[in-house]
Amino acid sequence: SNLHALAKSKGKLYFGSATDNPEFTDAAYMAILSDNTMFGQITPGNSMKWDATEPSQGQFTFSGGDAVANLAKTNGQLLRGHNCVWYSQLPSWVSNSGFSAAELTSVIQNHCSTVVGHYKGQVYSWDVVNEPFNDDGTWRTDVFYNTLGTSYVSIALQAARAADPNAKLYINDYNIEGPSAKTTSMLNLVQTLKSQGVPLDGIGLQGHFIVGELPGNLQQTLEQFTALGVEVAYTELDIRMTLPATQALLTQQQKDYDTVVSACMAVEGCVGVTIWDYTDKYSWVPQTFPGQGEACPWDQNLAKKPAYDGIVSGLNS
Ligand code: G3I
Repeated sequence: SNLHALAKSKGKLYFGSATDNPEFTDAAYMAILSDNTMFGQITPGNSMKWDATEPSQGQFTFSGGDAVANLAKTNGQLLRGHNCVWYSQLPSWVSNSGFSAAELTSVIQNHCSTVVGHYKGQVYSWDVVNEPFNDDGTWRTDVFYNTLGTSYVSIALQAARAADPNAKLYINDYNIEGPSAKTTSMLNLVQTLKSQGVPLDGIGLQGHFIVGELPGNLQQTLEQFTALGVEVAYTELDIRMTLPATQALLTQQQKDYDTVVSACMAVEGCVGVTIWDYTDKYSWVPQTFPGQGEACPWDQNLAKKPAYDGIVSGLNS
C-alpha cells in the first residue's frame, strides 16, 4: 500500500511531502503529490516564508501560500505551515531597519499573528521558529537574537497560539537528530520553555542527511524530546549523496531511509515523516551542494528509487 496509507495503518498521523508553487504546472508531478494515499500531508517549501508573505512592512501577500493550502484542502491532506520566524528568506526591512526591542517585538507579533491567523483552522502544525541554533549549539546571532535575546522565541510562540489555538506549534531545526551540542541546546530550550509555560507542542527534526552518514541513536534522540512533553516529527527528510549515483549508494540510501523511518515508527510521540519534496526533479540539494544530489525517493523522471522500498520497510517495522 502507498506511504501515507501504510503510515496511518501503523498508527502514525501522516506521511507527507514538501512542495512548491512552480511545480504545480507539472501534471505528472501533481498526480503523485495529490494522491492522498501516498501523501497525507504537505508543506510549502517557500510560499509561507516571511519574504513571500510580508515582503514590505504590513503588506501581506498570501497567494502562493493559499494555493498550497487550497491544494491540501482539495486533496484532503494535512498542512504544515512553514515558517513564521527565520533568519533566512527574511526581507531586509526586518533585518536591516535597526528596530528597537519594542519595535521588533511588535513586528514579530504582527507577522506571526497575521500569517498564522490567515490560515487558522487549516493548519495541523506550524514551524513557528525555524533554525534558532548554530551547529555548535550557540544561538544564531540573527536580528531576532541580537535585538531580543532568546525572548523572541516565546514572543513568536505566544502570538501564534493566540492566532490559531488549535495548531500544533513547533520549533524546527537540522542537525538535532542525534547526540550533538546543538541537540543538547534544543533539549534545554524545550525544558526552559515548558517550565515557563510557553506554548510549545512539538520539535521538528528536519532530517537533511548524507547517505552512509546517519547519526547514531535516532530513536533515543526522539525519545529525549518526547520525554519533555512535546511531540516530534521528521519534517524535511532527504538523504543526499555525492554524484554520480552508484548501485551501492542507492542501496545504502534505501537502508538509510529505512533506518530514519523506523526510528519514527518506534516512538509513539513521533507523529509523522515529511520528505523535502518527493522527487529529485525538484530537490533543493544540487543548488546548495554542487556535486551532490539524488536525495529523494523518486528520481528525476518520477520513478521510484530503492529508497522508496526503504521507506516502506521502515513503515512496516
Ligand atoms: O523567488 C526567487 C526568484 O524570483 C528568482 O528568480 C530565483 C533565482 O534564483 O530565485 C528564487 O528564489 C529561490 C527560492 O528558493 C524560491 O524558489 C532562491 O534562490 C532559493 O535559494 C530558494 O531555496 C529554498 C531554500 O530553502 C532557501 O533557504 C529552497 O527552495 C527550499 O527548499 C529551502 O528549504 C529549507 C527550509 O525552508 C528550511 N530548512 C532547510 C531547507 C533546505 O534548505
